[in-house]
Amino acid sequence: MQVKAIQKIVEAILAKSQTRIELGIILGTGLHDFVNYIKSQIIISYNELEGLPEPSVVSHEGKIIIGIFEGKNVLCFLGRFHYYEGFTMQQVVLPVRVLQFLKCENIWITNAAGSINPTYNLGDIMVLNDHINLQSDNPLRGKSPIEFGARFPDMLGAYCQNWIKNAKRIATENNVVLHEGVYAAVNGPNLETPAEYKMLFVLGADVVGMSTVPEVIVAKQAGMRIAVFSIITDVCYPIERLRETTLDAIIKVAKDTEPKLLKILTKLIHEV
Ligand code: HPA
Repeated sequence: MQVKAIQKIVEAILAKSQTRIELGIILGTGLHDFVNYIKSQIIISYNELEGLPEPSVVSHEGKIIIGIFEGKNVLCFLGRFHYYEGFTMQQVVLPVRVLQFLKCENIWITNAAGSINPTYNLGDIMVLNDHINLQSDNPLRGKSPIEFGARFPDMLGAYCQNWIKNAKRIATENNVVLHEGVYAAVNGPNLETPAEYKMLFVLGADVVGMSTVPEVIVAKQAGMRIAVFSIITDVCYPIERLRETTLDAIIKVAKDTEPKLLKILTKLIHEV
């Protein structure tokens, strides 16, 4: 995506709100109640912003919400772009570029994921401490304008250790199970075969999903502090625990688990 096109989206947002954004949030599948906790909302529909496409997946609405969450100025993307929808990687990461150009320094990302770690259960939550990128394209491929950051950004320390530590403390205090582990990103949209789940286990993945990693790569290039939370919406490994799953089932587990994640996020925000 051209720098000018991103700047145009940013100007359109600034025309509606000049609030300095302290935290950007990208909400994943089924995780939408969160926005009910944002006060003094300014809502901008994606179709009001030229250059921002419409998400095609049910449960991804296509709205930006700017407001105050627990005293902090946040900008929340309700509706993410997945590579499997046919978007280019540059489109997939547009929300992060917009946050970068708004000079936002902190980002939280949530997603629905299948579990590979045999100790994980349906409705558990995992905070990411690393990822394995198995997607076939990279958001940094192509021209690298100076405004974007380093040509070869380092991925060491991409996930903020301080946020991980605090999220785990808050989870323990609130009797919420919070694992810490590695997210493997695949293209999708089909779920994986039993042999592929076994491969992911051998590779060292704890969960698998079809999003997030392109966004993290760009957020790291932008120098943001990053926290990512996965909700385990289906158990994929070992194979004896694997069941056929549907998008409806995934959305239901994500929705049912959201209150637990909210308990963590409403306290973690004080560390931003
Ligand atoms: N694979 C398996 N299960 C999932 C995924 C995935 O990519 N995303 C959400 N649940």
